[in-house]
Amino acid sequence: MANRSKVSSAAIALLLGLLIAIPTGVKSIGVCYGMNGNNLPQPSTVVNLYKSKNIKAMRLYDPDQAALQALKSSNIQLILDVPNTALQSLASNTSAANDWVQQNVKAYSSSVSFKYIAVGNEVIPGAQAQYVLPAMRNIYSALSSAGLQNQIKVSTSVATSVLAESSPPSHGVFSSAALTYLRPIVQFLASNGAPLLVNVYPYFSYVDSQGTININYALFTSSGTVVTDGQYKYQNLFDAIVDAVYAALEKVGGSNVTIVVSESGWPSAGGYAATINNAKTYNQNLINHVGQGTPRRPGKTIEAYIFEMFNENQKSAGVEQNFGLFYPSTQPVYTINFT
Ligand SMILES: *[C@@H]1O[C@H](CO)[C@@H](O)[C@H](O)[C@H]1NC(C)=O
Ligand SMILES: *[C@@H]1O[C@H](CO)[C@@H](O)[C@H](O)[C@H]1NC(C)=O
Repeated sequence: MANRSKVSSAAIALLLGLLIAIPTGVKSIGVCYGMNGNNLPQPSTVVNLYKSKNIKAMRLYDPDQAALQALKSSNIQLILDVPNTALQSLASNTSAANDWVQQNVKAYSSSVSFKYIAVGNEVIPGAQAQYVLPAMRNIYSALSSAGLQNQIKVSTSVATSVLAESSPPSHGVFSSAALTYLRPIVQFLASNGAPLLVNVYPYFSYVDSQGTININYALFTSSGTVVTDGQYKYQNLFDAIVDAVYAALEKVGGSNVTIVVSESGWPSAGGYAATINNAKTYNQNLINHVGQGTPRRPGKTIEAYIFEMFNENQKSAGVEQNFGLFYPSTQPVYTINFT
């Protein structure tokens, strides 16, 4: 008996150890693959670079056929965007939505691991916002016709400018202009068990704060609590921003909608506080942090996508061209560890 209970408590300790180890082992970090450059490597080279760096997920902004081909059998999890330019057509024309899904998803779905379709990027609020939900519904129907609606979730990607207030996080609330579109979208997401995709940039909050935010809070390097918000204590700005969106979701019936961080990053050049050291610090700390969740969702691993794979020379001059982890040559801008 004594021996047995020793064995079983050792087994339980081992099991607990494994359970505790799981969150940090979860591969929840991807990297966005933008293509706004005239000197970028071939998609097959890019996919091999993802594999060699142990990057397990990708966001692709356009259904680039060469990239989709290269992703076949790679086991890389994919967010595929419906580009903003296609929203109006896909919102109004069910045949166009069916064609889009057949050509860009169904044709690859036996060997490409599609996870989410992001219907539009940062279009709410704005002139195209009216097309987002109708396009989401048509894409969902097209996925259903193809038998893929359970494995591939339909969402849209929003900027945190959808918030009218974000500080402290519990005051997070959608602006009325955004809410016109987001309220029915949140219902759609909740009823389909789909997440809301959110682009989260402590960098821009830091830059815009005119010195009122300490850079350590933005870089995950504060040594203790910086913001206390009722029962919640914040040591980094990333968590505060994510929780402000959670608070806003909770106020509109979206308590069960998970947030996926569809972009986050820090530029290494081209503007204020844009240094290689800051970019490396931010992105490495983000990778190391996501397994912990946020104060409002403690222990719930955050799925996040670093923006972005390459410096892109056809984006606006300044920081926009310098978010890459790699130069177009595939040389790293700085070393970063995904394992
Ligand atoms: C709807 O989409 C189909 C398939 O892409 C296309 O052939 C058709 O012309 C479109 N209809 C309209 C009214 O745009
Ligand atoms: C949220 O999920 C919980 C647990 O699955 C469920 O009991 C609850 O009804 C859901 N709430 C909403 C608003 O859907």
